[in-house]
Amino acid sequence: MVTTNSRTVAPCSRIVGELTVPGDKSVSHRAAMLAALATGESTLTGFLASEDCLNTLSAVEALGATVKRKGTDVTISGTGGVFSRPNAALDLGNSGTGMRLLVGLLAGQPFETELTGDASLCSRPMRRIQEPLEAMGACVELSGETGTAPMRVGSAPLHAISYPLPVASAQVKSCVLLAGLYAEGTTTVIEPRPTRDHTEQLLRAMGVPVTVDGLSVSLDGFGAAGPRLTAGSIDVPGDFSSAAFWIVAAACRPGSRVTIRNVGLNPRRTALLDVLKRMGAGLSITQTTDAAAGEPMGDVTVDGSPLHGTTVEGNEIPNLIDELPLVAVAGAMADGVTIIRGAEELRVKESDRIATTVAMLQAVGVQVEEAPDGMTVTGGPVTGNVAIDSHGDHRIAMCAAILGLVGEAPVEVVNTDCIATSYPSFWDDLERVSSGEEDNVNVVIAIDGPAASGKSTVARKVAAALDDALYVDSGAIYRGIAWAALERGVDVHDADAVARMLADLDVGFFSRDGAVGFGIDGVEPGMAIRTRAVNDSVSPVAVIPAVRVQVVKWLKGMAALGTLVMEGRDIGTAVFPGTPHKFYLDASAEERTRRRHREMATEDAVDEDEVGKSLRRRDKIDSSRKMDPLQVAPGATRIDSTAMAIDEVVESIVAAVKGMP
Ligand code: S3P
Repeated sequence: MVTTNSRTVAPCSRIVGELTVPGDKSVSHRAAMLAALATGESTLTGFLASEDCLNTLSAVEALGATVKRKGTDVTISGTGGVFSRPNAALDLGNSGTGMRLLVGLLAGQPFETELTGDASLCSRPMRRIQEPLEAMGACVELSGETGTAPMRVGSAPLHAISYPLPVASAQVKSCVLLAGLYAEGTTTVIEPRPTRDHTEQLLRAMGVPVTVDGLSVSLDGFGAAGPRLTAGSIDVPGDFSSAAFWIVAAACRPGSRVTIRNVGLNPRRTALLDVLKRMGAGLSITQTTDAAAGEPMGDVTVDGSPLHGTTVEGNEIPNLIDELPLVAVAGAMADGVTIIRGAEELRVKESDRIATTVAMLQAVGVQVEEAPDGMTVTGGPVTGNVAIDSHGDHRIAMCAAILGLVGEAPVEVVNTDCIATSYPSFWDDLERVSSGEEDNVNVVIAIDGPAASGKSTVARKVAAALDDALYVDSGAIYRGIAWAALERGVDVHDADAVARMLADLDVGFFSRDGAVGFGIDGVEPGMAIRTRAVNDSVSPVAVIPAVRVQVVKWLKGMAALGTLVMEGRDIGTAVFPGTPHKFYLDASAEERTRRRHREMATEDAVDEDEVGKSLRRRDKIDSSRKMDPLQVAPGATRIDSTAMAIDEVVESIVAAVKGMP
């Protein structure tokens, strides 16, 4: 495979769309490690399948856990308290979290383990974990020249300590607490400032009490036999630190609107939202789900508006530590001065992030002064036409891309491979929020609704009633993909296989007789997409993220063809969230069953009960899928057609569209 390892990002006047970002990195690492120690089988959903977290999965596998992964679903059978000796050194790649947390657990094992990582990880400070672990009686040998990895750890009994953390670091706190699981007595960590508490939340969710008293965090150890962790299901929320790229991009571009769904909203991670509010951003936050494994989740919508500078320091710093380069980007796009202080920890991240952020901003013409523990950014024009090197730091690479997106001229991001460590679908998401719509001068009428709500008949008639409008059946494209999978013998439940097939398909679109049609590999499937086999395969295909990203891209691109009347399940929410013409068509489940049964009755004898059951199954899949679930789009007009004739529904939509500017 040829990778260019560089990418140019052009400015986009409006950042618009809805996204579900991949799973939280911190939670994924911890869930993998603790599930690997638990007694029994745990299921992790929404796991972050990025290089960093996959390295952690391989490490726990080498330590005796049984790991099965299908995309973002991971099943782990734990070892029941202690690991088994690995055959070779564990390679944690680029991940400080992977290494520091695992070392905590390995300190208490009855054998010695060797750990290593890439050049960046082997240059990051490890004395910060060596010191407390040695105080607990552990053997930790650092063979890097400056207190760095590679390292060896383990094979000594541990005793509990009370440890005041010299740095506010969740990784060091977690390392000591995890080692404390193998000590006799109560281990206490006293933090200088509150840091992220995913380890504590997950331990509690798995049955180990953790007590918090102000800044002190304590747990009782289990001794050399190790902890009794209860296996179970762990739903990993979307990573707020990944969502932050789009939140900041939209916040600093007036006219933008981005919604991130199902993102983790642990207050120890979301200080960026407070900072952006202070800067004048329009934010609305809804907690949608009960805390999963102690982690609250919800939706964040951001509306772009003019921003002004602010100061970020003190207790806020650990709770937006990974977002500070983005705060600097927001500061560059704001009026006035943005000051960041007390952030010396940035110097020991995947790169010296104070130096790399300052250099990045200077490259795009922003006035910025470096301080030992932060920077002062003066807002002003963000010019581009430059190349920015990420220095192998994923967050710097993604920040540089955001500068290209929100600034005045393109930015070439050099050294982009590192993005795969935390956010493999970053470029797809960038395209999703920046493609198509802003340049679209054509009208789009979005009609969404559940199966058999009448939306296809209605949309077709609305298109006919409006001169030159094209009817688009978005569901037909998902059906086309399901049909192609069946034709090729691809398992529709195997997301990776379907994604591979999709990359290989040749799909073309054309307008004919007032509708947009398509061909796949030169064939127009026609009625072949309406068979029962396709009916049963389309929902599993439509929940696959790679499929949705691709179809949404195709659908957005159709706006160039003319006025569109597009029907589906996410047109108003994900495809054209910016259109003022959004409708949500509904009807009672009984009425929809009757309608679908009537349609099918001509085909062959079908039982109405069966039809009802299958409809309800579809409703459930469509409205509960993580990405672009079926829901009423903000600002959509809801039409209940249960007791309405089709023509009445059509007239009401046409009247509403014509009456609007
Ligand atoms: C992390 C903690 C933070 C953060 C890192 C992930 C964690 O590091 O920067 O990306 O998962 O515990 P420190 O705790 O060392 O600041």
